[in-house]
Amino acid sequence: MEFGFSEEQLMLQDVARRIAREKIAPSAEHHDRTGEFPLENIRTLGENGLMGIEVPTEYGGAGMDPISYVLAMMEIAEADCAHSTIVSVNNSLFCNGVLKFGTEAQKQLYVRAIAEGREIGAFALTEPQSGSDATAMRCKAVKQDGGSYVINGKKSWITSGPVAKYIILFAITDPTKGAKGITAFMVDTAKPGFHRGKTEPKLGIRASATCEIEFTDYVASADEVIGQDGEGFKIAMGVLDAGRIGIASQAVGLSKAAYKAAVAYVKERKSFGQPIGSFQMIQAKIADMKCRLDAAELLTLRAAWAKALADKTGGRFSTEAAVAKLTASEAAMFITHQALQIHGGMGYSKEMPLERYFRDAKITEIYEGTSEIQRLVIARHETGLR
Ligand code: CAA
Ligand code: FAD
Repeated sequence: MEFGFSEEQLMLQDVARRIAREKIAPSAEHHDRTGEFPLENIRTLGENGLMGIEVPTEYGGAGMDPISYVLAMMEIAEADCAHSTIVSVNNSLFCNGVLKFGTEAQKQLYVRAIAEGREIGAFALTEPQSGSDATAMRCKAVKQDGGSYVINGKKSWITSGPVAKYIILFAITDPTKGAKGITAFMVDTAKPGFHRGKTEPKLGIRASATCEIEFTDYVASADEVIGQDGEGFKIAMGVLDAGRIGIASQAVGLSKAAYKAAVAYVKERKSFGQPIGSFQMIQAKIADMKCRLDAAELLTLRAAWAKALADKTGGRFSTEAAVAKLTASEAAMFITHQALQIHGGMGYSKEMPLERYFRDAKITEIYEGTSEIQRLVIARHETGLR
């Protein structure tokens, strides 16, 4: 395992840090309060290669590696968690999905505008009755004589659904085959038969727009199938392995913001005639936060390193990604909770960002597979039992 970063990786991190500090952090409170989608900031991220970090330059991306992606995501999430959700879905679910499983023609057609941040990509797996149990989906794609498919059904909780141009959709093509009867499609949201529901009001990541989407006799051509008919579930799971590294990075970035705020506050806030940081009970909190933060960061970098290796030599990195996502999201809950507590009443106030960090942290334990599902993935791998 390498602990150093290349010059290119540090340069991309620098670009992300500059945009995060100059554009994203100053508007984070506004976007949280209003729930307004941060289109202008997303465009800036796109113009600087950050909406398609691992996308080769020939398709409009930055042509960087998974480590660079993790470093950039941490910077963006440290400034604002909601922005990093949009960035993560665009990069690791949409772009990565098309690049890994799409044809050359699909890469040419769908990746450039999304990687450049001119348009936004989404990923639709979850339905009202099926989240963790993803194969229990009902959205159906029925093959027609000419080779096209007619799609009917609903998907729920679709991140960037209200604004997306293209969506990777998973639908049942053979209900008798379970996981092997699911197929992936590219959806163009401008086509007839595609509808959006209302944007969901949420506890946190409020500037990341989420909605239900519905298909009524939506026609997808054979050219819009991603991978082979029946390969959709494996594609979804393979793409989510990369996505979970993005969410782990998001959790680490958010944790860093809360941790740094706590360390600064314990030095300046006085109680009983001394800085609160000199009380052993507060020192223990700082030490516990620091240990969890470092563990989460290292495991996230390990997962990125495992993905980089898999990109070159093949193979899976599902366990490394699940270990990173589980550790980092639980660290984010712990660290944002402790940081808020350290700030006392001010932590509870909207005058400071601690309560936003605390609300934002919760989602990292839910989406892209709940903590229970990460434990299931890890334990199945370790024991070989189901
Ligand atoms: N890569 C490749 N193939 C995989 C795989 C992976 N990571 N995981 C499973 N598979 C394959 C299996 O090998 C199996 O194939 P074979 O039969 O040929 O061996 C097939 O897929 C079915 O696998 P399982 O039997 O393990 O499937 P399962 O029904 O038991 O489900 C699960 C497994 C891990 C619980 C899975 O359903 C899951 O991850 N659920 C959570 C869903 C999720 O994460 N949703 C996120 C939605 S997107 C999102 O949330 C975005 C956002 O918020 C921003
Ligand atoms: P359920 O699956 O109903 O789970 C309920 C509870 O039961 C959870 O605690 C769960 O861990 C537990 N549970 C379920 N099965 C087991 C088991 N086998 N063992 C132990 N415990 C279990 N989905 C998309 O497809 N695309 C998106 O872009 C997207 N964005 C999202 C954005 C937000 C803000 C949210 C809230 C969700 C998003 N999702 C998206 C959906 C998300 O992935 C699901 O909410 C998540 O996978 C959990 O599914 P569920 O909500 O149906 O909960």
